[in-house]
Amino acid sequence: MARRKIYQVGDDTLRQVSKPVTEFDDKLSMLIDDMIDTLIYADGAGLAAPQIGVLKRIFVATFDGGRTIIEAVNPTIVQAKGKRVAPEGCLSIPNIREKVERPRRVVVHAFDRHGNPIELIGNGFDASCFCHEIDHLDGILFTDKSINGRK
Ligand code: NI
Repeated sequence: MARRKIYQVGDDTLRQVSKPVTEFDDKLSMLIDDMIDTLIYADGAGLAAPQIGVLKRIFVATFDGGRTIIEAVNPTIVQAKGKRVAPEGCLSIPNIREKVERPRRVVVHAFDRHGNPIELIGNGFDASCFCHEIDHLDGILFTDKSINGRK
């Protein structure tokens, strides 16, 4: 496992659309381990692969009050309910926190590193986090959606 450099806002990599993972091999497993290392070291809530310069549809995130770390490969939001506005930050945009409106609850379908289908249910903070990370896979940053200053 190894820590990776976190790409910062202004880098064009963060604006690209990531490609689905097709090979569930040792290389993927090593990449996900590196992402988890990088997330823990940076003390973040979530990290998407493009943030370490890899344009693949993968994110890792803390879950359930930080008690566990989840990994999601090729995630899709299959259900979203309610609305919630809360401040967000991002490891790629240091020292900025802005309010973003997200669903209050989301159901995400994805795969684990072995290619097994998984279902993640996010409420509140976890819902915002999953949406934030999935946005990264489409080149979207939370500041694009900020409602700070909007009446
Ligand atoms: Ni982020």
